Amino acid sequence: MGTIKVTDLEGNTHEIQATEGLSIMENIYDAKIPIKAACFGCCSCSTCHVYIDEAWIKETGQPSEEEEDILDMVVDLKENSRLSCQITYNDALDGIHVTLSEDTKTD
Ligand code: FES
Repeated sequence: MGTIKVTDLEGNTHEIQATEGLSIMENIYDAKIPIKAACFGCCSCSTCHVYIDEAWIKETGQPSEEEEDILDMVVDLKENSRLSCQITYNDALDGIHVTLSEDTKTD
């Protein structure tokens, strides 16, 4: 168990409990913070797109080619864009801060 800081679309930051072995997306979903995640982890939508806080980019590693293909379709791609379903939460990510993108909107 550790924590993830999640800034929602209204700009509010929540500190949520995170479970190792689940993706960042699944942890956000379990904490009941609205995140569309339409394909629920299959790397075939872009509705779990988040921005990783600069300080954590190294720890999250490189996106796969498959993930990069999906990221190419997002509305507002930034250097710190990632699909949150493609990052598995582990101890090294305790305290990571992510910001939800417009793509995660649920309605
Ligand atoms: S939930 Fe669809 S790509 Fe992450």
